[in-house]
Amino acid sequence: MASAANASSLCLSLKSSINSSSSPVSRSSGSSDVYLRLKNRSPISLRSSFFSNSSSIELNQVNNKCLVNVNRTQFKTSASSTQVMEPSPSKANSRVPTIVEVDLGNRSYPIYIGSGLLDQPELLQRHVHGKRVLVVTNNTVAPLYLDKVVDALTRGNPNVSAESVILPDGEKYKNMETLMKVFDKAIESRLDRRCTFVALGGGVIGDMCGYAAASFLRGVNFIQIPTTVMAQVDSSVGGKTGINHPLGKNLIGAFYQPQCVLIDTDTLNTLPDRELASGLAEVIKYGLIRDAEFFRWQENNMPALMARDPEAFTYAIKRSCENKAEVVALDEKESGLRATLNLGHTFGHAIETGFGYGQWLHGEAVAAGMVMAVDMSRRLGWIDDSIVRRVHNILEQAKLPTAPPVTMTVEMFKSVMAVDKKVADGLLRLILLKGPLGNCVFTGEYDRKALDETLRAFCKS
Ligand SMILES: NC(=O)c1ccc[n+]([C@@H]2O[C@H](COP(=O)([O-])OP(=O)(O)OC[C@H]3O[C@@H](n4cnc5c(N)ncnc54)[C@H](O)[C@@H]3O)[C@@H](O)[C@H]2O)c1
Ligand SMILES: [Zn+2]
Repeated sequence: MASAANASSLCLSLKSSINSSSSPVSRSSGSSDVYLRLKNRSPISLRSSFFSNSSSIELNQVNNKCLVNVNRTQFKTSASSTQVMEPSPSKANSRVPTIVEVDLGNRSYPIYIGSGLLDQPELLQRHVHGKRVLVVTNNTVAPLYLDKVVDALTRGNPNVSAESVILPDGEKYKNMETLMKVFDKAIESRLDRRCTFVALGGGVIGDMCGYAAASFLRGVNFIQIPTTVMAQVDSSVGGKTGINHPLGKNLIGAFYQPQCVLIDTDTLNTLPDRELASGLAEVIKYGLIRDAEFFRWQENNMPALMARDPEAFTYAIKRSCENKAEVVALDEKESGLRATLNLGHTFGHAIETGFGYGQWLHGEAVAAGMVMAVDMSRRLGWIDDSIVRRVHNILEQAKLPTAPPVTMTVEMFKSVMAVDKKVADGLLRLILLKGPLGNCVFTGEYDRKALDETLRAFCKS
């Protein structure tokens, strides 16, 4: 899709991703109250009702302003789900996958979500091209799920052979040297262009395997089997792949979309508690930036999520994937709108950098960062106190931090934020909440005093 910032005219048709009859919460009817400006350094504001039931939205960029028409008669799906699983307490058939379709033209693909999906070989096999498969995983995930995945890829299908490469576990191995191990294995095994790479693991494996698939023989088929909440709700959707450079995270990479994503919620049973909570921070983020009804659902269902209820997780992953897929379909290459997915990440990145990578998990830093962004939004008078309280409550329920580490100083925040990717013309643009729950802006137009006050409120010095 053409980048929104460059297009002089763009038309987008969207359909709601929710079948309201089976949704656990009723959705409000569509609204044409949408505001999107595409000029540099201008705010982008989206209402959660933007992707409303059965509505199609046409955006026409005129003189850098986006005119929006809502038309309820046309349907074209940007991200849609078939079969919606009722979350707890009703017992839906957890063997039938929920499917979220990511609509990216000829690079569209399905995300299968549900319990027991690795026991359904046909789901994976229909997306395997050619006869050779390379499963890329790590030494933590391999003993847990590699045999099961190889079985799912090959059972009843003698024509397909699967090999694997087991990488060392950890963000510190997300680099060129480890990537080479994937290429070594692929070349030694004489894999050709018709092979399929399968990523089995968390976001580190997904990003590395995706980048390997994008560049091996200039691009081979790719399937994602994400096994962390973070990977299931965030990193496996959207096509960003890559590795770190010693001078910075994710600096080398490519946009590359998979053939399919298969999310078996049973894999979460072995995930450490902290990793589970870290992923939930991103789930909460989707509710805050664009999906108030999903946020309300989370408020009611956080105990079920913390108890790893597969149906609650299926629903949370589905809504998260739909939200991300809708944003990505509108702004695949991150010209503006996609930046709203970074709520809390500017503050969070400062925590990750200042406090030392590996001390706090990414989602933990994002949780504290979201609290800071919400605090600043309230100081600006853009949201009311009830949202601040609700954000605190839900993060506490998810056992996530609601403040940065005590060792963080105002200076540490400022020095990292000064070199943030979202600085344009010396102005730091932030994702802030504005209006009723589910609305955010990406803007550099805010009172600097509010940022200073927030930093002082959360830091001792
Ligand atoms: N591409 C994107 O759009 C995007 C978005 C967000 C994050 N990311 C990337 O994702 C990475 C973080 O992903 P992550 O949080 O999944 O970390 P991770 O991949 O390091 O996984 C966390 C830990 O859990 C282990 N693990 C994975 N699945 C498990 C399971 N089912 N049971 C037990 N242990 C399991 C892993 O081996 C690892 O030790 C970062 O590198 C980040 O840059 C990418
Ligand atoms: Zn994140």
